[in-house]
Formats: sequence, structure tokens, C-alpha cells
Amino acid sequence: MKIGIIGAMEEEISQLNDLMKKNTQQIIAGRIFHEGTINNIEVITVLARIGKVAASATTTTLILHFQVDAIIFTGVAGAIDSSLNIGDIVISDNLVQHDLDASPIFPKYQIPILGITNILPSKDIGDHLYTAAQHYISNKLFFELTKEFLSEFGIAKPKVVYGTIVSGDQFVKNEITIERIRNEIHKAKCVEMEGAAVAQVCHEFNIPFSVVRIISDKADHTSPVDFSKFLQIASYYSRGIIKNFMQQKFPLNTQ
Ligand code: ADE
Repeated sequence: MKIGIIGAMEEEISQLNDLMKKNTQQIIAGRIFHEGTINNIEVITVLARIGKVAASATTTTLILHFQVDAIIFTGVAGAIDSSLNIGDIVISDNLVQHDLDASPIFPKYQIPILGITNILPSKDIGDHLYTAAQHYISNKLFFELTKEFLSEFGIAKPKVVYGTIVSGDQFVKNEITIERIRNEIHKAKCVEMEGAAVAQVCHEFNIPFSVVRIISDKADHTSPVDFSKFLQIASYYSRGIIKNFMQQKFPLNTQ
């Protein structure tokens, strides 16, 4: 079993690389792919860069060049569901491209030719990520970072939820976009810039995948400030979740 782990930020990938044994590097298309093992499972970590095109190119390289058996994307997202707070974690159970609109030729949000709007990730990988995320917030987060420090981000009782993650090539920072997504994409939980692109590529190549996102901001006018501030702690979350994920029982039932 070989797992590709894609990160959204430099800090996250470097922290993951500290968990790896036999870390060797290959540079393809300007991206550094780190090959090694975590808990005796083969892994390849890589920084995708930002946006759907960058994520698609990275995912395709992991599949065709490195022949990974599964892909996990870890990063941050803006909340769309008003019950989510900064520091909560969303595990994908559906992914949609919220900026895809080939109407009237095809229905809004539908992927042309493929004929689908929603891409469903692997339930088994998602369940393992959920367990890992729950373990992290219950047992590790408040030991790694103090309660006082976390309260500066408004983090007191973080939670883990499953839900729809929407992606598009824009950093969402206004209420109008939030309202459009809430009204038009049923049950959208959070917004980011890569997950649904990874999902489409994995779907087309028939590779199991999942996405885990930590809420860094509320996708409204406060989001640029909150997002930048949250980057200080996002890497703790990602490292902790992936570390626990890799400690779980393998091989996964990846379908
Ligand atoms: N990633 C984190 N916050 C985001 C936002 N508000 N919009 C898009 N991607 C994000």
C-alpha cells in the first residue's frame, strides 16, 4: 500500500516529513515529492501549490508517476455552515466545484461529460481520518498548545464533522459568496481551493481518496486576517491527524 499525502502549506508538509523514515526527494514540475515510510507504510508527501489546476497536476503525478494506491489531502478551509467554528475539522463525504458553470449547455456545477456534480470519497479512509481527528482534538491539541493560546483563536471545544466540501479558484471573503454557496449547494460545510479537483482526478483514475480540512476562518470579511493568523497552528493539527491516521490498522479497505 502506497499513500500519497498532499498538503496545502509548506509548514504542514515539512512537519509530516519529520514523521518519515528514508525520506528521499524527487522534483517534478517544480514540486518536491518526498518518498519514505511512516509506521512502515509507504508514503509520498507533496505540497500541491494553490488552486484546482495545481492540485490536479499534483494528483495526476502521484497516480501516474508514483503509482499511489490512495490519496489524502490535508489543509485548511473557510466555514460555510454557520455552526462551524475556527479549529473545527471537516472530513469530506462529498466534494463539489462551486465555480464550475457550463450552463446552459450543462447544469450549473455539473462536471461536463462526466455528468456528475458530487464526487464521493472513500468511506473507509474518511472514517479512519475521523477517528484520527477526534483523537487529536480530544487527546493531543490541548497538550501541544495551551488553552490560553487556543482561546486567542476562539478555540475552546473543537469538533469533527463529516460533510460536503466545496472548492473553487477563489479565496472566499464575502457574505454574498457564502450565501450563494449555502443556497445552491446543499449541505456545504466549508470552502477551499483544491479538494474537489483532487476528487475529480481520483474519480477518473479510480483511486480512493479523502480530504480533511481544518476551519481557519469564516469565509467572510474577517477571513483574510483569521486565515493568516491560523497558519501558525494549522501544521499542528495536520501533523497530529496524519500521525494518528498512520498508526491505525492497515491495509485500509479503500473502496
Ligand atoms: N482556505 C481557507 N480559507 C479559505 C477561504 N475563505 N476561501 C477559500 N479557501 C480557503
